[in-house]
Amino acid sequence: MNLQLPYCFCFFLLLKLPFSTNGQAYKNVSLGSSLTAASGDLPWTSPSGEFAFGFQQVGDAGYLLAIWFNKIPERTIVWSANRNNLAQRGSTVQLTADGQLVLNDRSGTRIRNTAYLGGSGAAYGAMLDTGNFVLSGQAGDTLWQSFDQPTDTLLPTQILKSGAQLIAPYLEKNYSDGRFKLILQDDGNLVMYTTAYPLTTSNFLYWSTGSSLGSGNQLIFNQSGYMYVVASNGTILNPVFSNPVSLQDFYHRATIDYDGVFRQYVYPKSASSGKRWAMALTTSTNFVPPDICLAISYPLGSGACGFNSLCELGDDQRPSCRCPTGYSFYDQDDERKGCKKNFISQDCGHPSQEIDNFEIRDMLNTNFPHTDYGYFKSSIVDEEWCRQACLSDCYCDVATFQVGQCWKKRGPLSNGVTDPRILDKALLKVRKGNRTEELAQKKSAKKSDRSALIISGSVLLDPSSFFSTI
Ligand SMILES: *[C@@H]1O[C@H](CO)[C@@H](O)[C@H](O)[C@H]1NC(C)=O
Ligand SMILES: *[C@@H]1O[C@H](CO)[C@@H](O)[C@H](O)[C@H]1NC(C)=O
Ligand SMILES: *[C@@H]1O[C@H](CO)[C@@H](O)[C@H](O)[C@H]1NC(C)=O
Ligand SMILES: *[C@@H]1O[C@H](CO)[C@@H](O)[C@H](O)[C@H]1NC(C)=O
Ligand SMILES: *[C@@H]1O[C@H](CO)[C@@H](O)[C@H](O)[C@H]1NC(C)=O
Repeated sequence: MNLQLPYCFCFFLLLKLPFSTNGQAYKNVSLGSSLTAASGDLPWTSPSGEFAFGFQQVGDAGYLLAIWFNKIPERTIVWSANRNNLAQRGSTVQLTADGQLVLNDRSGTRIRNTAYLGGSGAAYGAMLDTGNFVLSGQAGDTLWQSFDQPTDTLLPTQILKSGAQLIAPYLEKNYSDGRFKLILQDDGNLVMYTTAYPLTTSNFLYWSTGSSLGSGNQLIFNQSGYMYVVASNGTILNPVFSNPVSLQDFYHRATIDYDGVFRQYVYPKSASSGKRWAMALTTSTNFVPPDICLAISYPLGSGACGFNSLCELGDDQRPSCRCPTGYSFYDQDDERKGCKKNFISQDCGHPSQEIDNFEIRDMLNTNFPHTDYGYFKSSIVDEEWCRQACLSDCYCDVATFQVGQCWKKRGPLSNGVTDPRILDKALLKVRKGNRTEELAQKKSAKKSDRSALIISGSVLLDPSSFFSTI
């Protein structure tokens, strides 16, 4: 039994339920009801049909037991029960005769108790028009609700309680626990942390409302689209989003995305052109933190992007990760795994012979904080000095220069950012010639002489990618 339902939420329920029976084929979910993944069973929908509860297929990997926006083509998922443990074809979710909501695999083995309610189970379940799936007792009292177990998304009228958290998905279409989270701490502070991936424990703070005023705070997302932290006495402490949105005209959600940004989204309900999820149109903030590329910068960890990567905010204010010249993504499908060198590092055994094989590529407004191992400041330190210092040092992967100061840095490079506010110039050391040339050479070597291929192939960093490219 949830005694902490705020006034506005109860009010909303009272207001909405009477409409729910109006001429709709809506039915409560009765005891004994079940849905089977990949069986063609219709999901349990809300009275308006705007939300549905059931199975959603995730690529070939399996099925999520989820709640989604059911009237838009994207079927955007707002909640799921098993994001780290997808259900296979034939799995079932059942509201059992004794009123427990359970997820079983096809052999009948319980994957999880979605909602364990103890001795007195639910009398019925209901998918509400708010997007909340509830299990209710005989008297209509709420015993369990999906709103209390948020995944990565909050919906209007939903409340994040003290101690509760949202965890970003791993990728846009991979719903496993990801690399970022938002927590309403017990001390009342609303904070965002990187996770110590693959663990979900908190690693580094990158945004907070800064208020730690007593306990019992709640994060409220109200029906007009405002989101704020409220103290237990009702005082509004910190606004997060203050953008009025009409729930009549728009679907609305706030989601911590896989890139670590918490965004407020709207989607027009009317048949307007260009229907899609867009950031709430506003005069004030509609996402936090304002610049995640600069917000995450710690001696441990890779930063907002992966190691050896550069983070840059695009015109749409979204962070994008890219690789510096001479580097490429380990995994094209998961850019946050970072970048690898496309060339063989400088040979420390013969540094002097090697200098001529390397060159410096300039990158303006770029830095890789926290990877320094050398610092030089003197009247003779100019950009050319810094360039040569890195070229002739086999440990140096990049140097940064800023008015008479030179920093040498070694890999893996972390916290890489390109931003007009950064005054450093990065001087990146790469082997002369590029991968295209290298591959072309290998290709001709393969044609002419197999043994030559083996020798030259052995100097490649990653022979498997070499072969697959051919
Ligand atoms: C759902 O169940 C409750 C309790 O039995 C009942 O009061 C309510 O009218 C039911 N609603 C619908 C739409 O069947
Ligand atoms: C999501 O990514 C994780 C981490 O790379 C991986 O283990 C998992 O299999 C992926 N899930 C899907 C459905 O692709
Ligand atoms: C939502 O919160 C804002 C800011 O506190 C307030 O102006 C508005 O009236 C609230 N809306 C509802 C439906 O409570
Ligand atoms: C409510 O609580 C906040 C934070 O604990 C405090 O600053 C404020 O003075 C309180 N307001 C009232 C009216 O008690
Ligand atoms: C790499 O070398 C090839 C062949 O010389 C050239 O066509 C290509 O433009 C080079 N690419 C880059 C990024 O320098």
